[in-house]
Amino acid sequence: DVIDVRALGKAGYFTYDPGYVSTGACESKITFIDGEKGQLLYRGYPIEQLAEQSNFEEVAYLLLNGELPSKEEFENFVAKINNHTMVHQQMMNFFNGFRRDAHPMAIMVSVVGALSAFYHDSLDINNPEHRDISALRLIAKVPTIAAMCYRYSVGHPFVYPDNDMSLAENFLNMMFSMPTNDWKPDPVLVKAMDRIFILHADHEQNASTSTVRLAGSSGANPFAAIASGIACLWGPAHGGANEACLNMLREIGDVSRIPEFIERAKDKNDPFRLMGFGHRVYKNFDPRAKVMRESAHEVLDLLGKHDDPIFKIALELEKIALEDPYFIEKKLYPNVDFYSGVILDAMGIPTNMFTVIFALARTVGWVSQWHEMIGEDDRRIGRPRQLYTGATERDYVDLNKR
Ligand code: ACO
Repeated sequence: DVIDVRALGKAGYFTYDPGYVSTGACESKITFIDGEKGQLLYRGYPIEQLAEQSNFEEVAYLLLNGELPSKEEFENFVAKINNHTMVHQQMMNFFNGFRRDAHPMAIMVSVVGALSAFYHDSLDINNPEHRDISALRLIAKVPTIAAMCYRYSVGHPFVYPDNDMSLAENFLNMMFSMPTNDWKPDPVLVKAMDRIFILHADHEQNASTSTVRLAGSSGANPFAAIASGIACLWGPAHGGANEACLNMLREIGDVSRIPEFIERAKDKNDPFRLMGFGHRVYKNFDPRAKVMRESAHEVLDLLGKHDDPIFKIALELEKIALEDPYFIEKKLYPNVDFYSGVILDAMGIPTNMFTVIFALARTVGWVSQWHEMIGEDDRRIGRPRQLYTGATERDYVDLNKR
């Protein structure tokens, strides 16, 4: 049920809602979540169907434009993305300024924000053509930048995008191929990566998307707005959870230690939380986690890693937690991040790249949400109020008299 409180503001009142637990800040036609049912729809289409039958480029078109593309529309869209996959040669120099051991999210925030220093010709947010080009540039260039972050960190040469490949295949190729061999990504791994992209593409008004909308509401250019979303996503309570989850599984180390960690998660005096569990909106199984678990089985089978100790711990942890009264009562179920880390790890992707991959996929959602907001007739700057609890008015005292 929705209570429209806009009239309260005009009458001089405001609602107090820390964490925006019960505040809707916008109308949107993009993504629907029913947290009680564990349902997620992109533009009306169930996430399970899209993950199974579609591909990331098609989902990107759907989120941006509202409808699935015809074959011709799809081909045009892919051609347009391919037109923008390269980054300006000058940007390569940026990377040399970073320490090799920098977290790739730190590099992502900076380099994506810096796109606005290169693409002046698409910064007019009131011009629909500029908005479209910026959207395509972001969707196309962020994967290239993400792969460059990794290559820089391991001291390998950058790999140029190959526009004969799908976005997922291209990303894996830019991550792992070498001029000295003819390595090509395995189709099963490409499919798994494509699914990870689809499942992370949008999730209505989560913290990073709200950040993008808030930054964009001031009229900031889209590259700056998306960089702010990347910064927000980095936190362990949000996109950083897949990295934190894998680190946790490694720390558990052995199935026999699971009960100890479950007890810690339940202890109110211990700040430890079970990473990859719980969600602000889902009070049932996160539908993305189900698809992700299936994908984990496929990838580990292909790689002959079914006995992978981390995967075994994840499966057992999920089983034990789902039977524990604490998790049942609080409706804490595995979220999308619980299995994504296991898959990425099995693919040989380093842990600190997990959130980068999330950002790559979510760029599509951020851009679509930004697009929707900028196109509104009655767009207003986002400006929450506060409940002031500080000192009441008092007189300044000279420094020598304090
Ligand atoms: N482990 C143990 N207890 C938990 C967990 C957890 N993972 N998550 C929530 N709880 C408990 C809280 O301690 C709280 O207990 P209380 O009512 O006794 O105080 C209760 O469940 C409700 O938790 P809140 O923090 O109020 O729920 P909120 O909606 O604010 O937080 C969040 C949701 C941040 C996702 C939380 O569940 C969490 O920290 N999970 C672990 C991190 C994680 O996996 N994040 C990824 C989210 S999905 C994504 O961003 C793609």
